Amino acid sequence: MIKRKKYARAFVQPKGSFFLFGPRGTGKTTLIEGLGLGQHEISLLDEERYQDYLAQPGLFFEELVHLKDGSWVFIDEIQRLPGLLNEVHRLIEKKKIQIRHVGIKREKTEESGR
Ligand SMILES: Nc1ncnc2c1ncn2[C@@H]1O[C@H](COP(=O)(O)OP(=O)(O)OP(=O)(O)O)[C@@H](O)[C@H]1O
Ligand SMILES: [Mg+2]
Repeated sequence: MIKRKKYARAFVQPKGSFFLFGPRGTGKTTLIEGLGLGQHEISLLDEERYQDYLAQPGLFFEELVHLKDGSWVFIDEIQRLPGLLNEVHRLIEKKKIQIRHVGIKREKTEESGR
């Protein structure tokens, strides 16, 4: 059996909402969860959830609008659903909710300007 060593990471949490981007498998999700910052976690890897939000983006707002003002929400794999950012914006305006977005950069999309 291979024993894996965990490496400490230097990370200063920004005061407001932020995006954390990085290549696949570099420890983004582990970092956020390990620091205990994932109390309200929404993983867009969850296909059912992804399809629900795709069909009905307003669901996201309805699910989270009851959180206390200033709560933190962690959205993993945000690059799967860029359209959700409009709902995120609405939530931030309404509830001062703060969002941790974690995902990978879509290099091809950016290069092609789409
Ligand atoms: N600080 C660390 N030291 C050693 N291994 C780590 C560390 N952080 C994460 N790992 C390991 O690296 C692997 C990838 O971690 P993780 O899934 O968090 O990456 P990710 O950046 O979220 O990947 P993806 O972009 O695919 O979602 C996991 O097996 C995890 O246990
Ligand atoms: Mg991840």
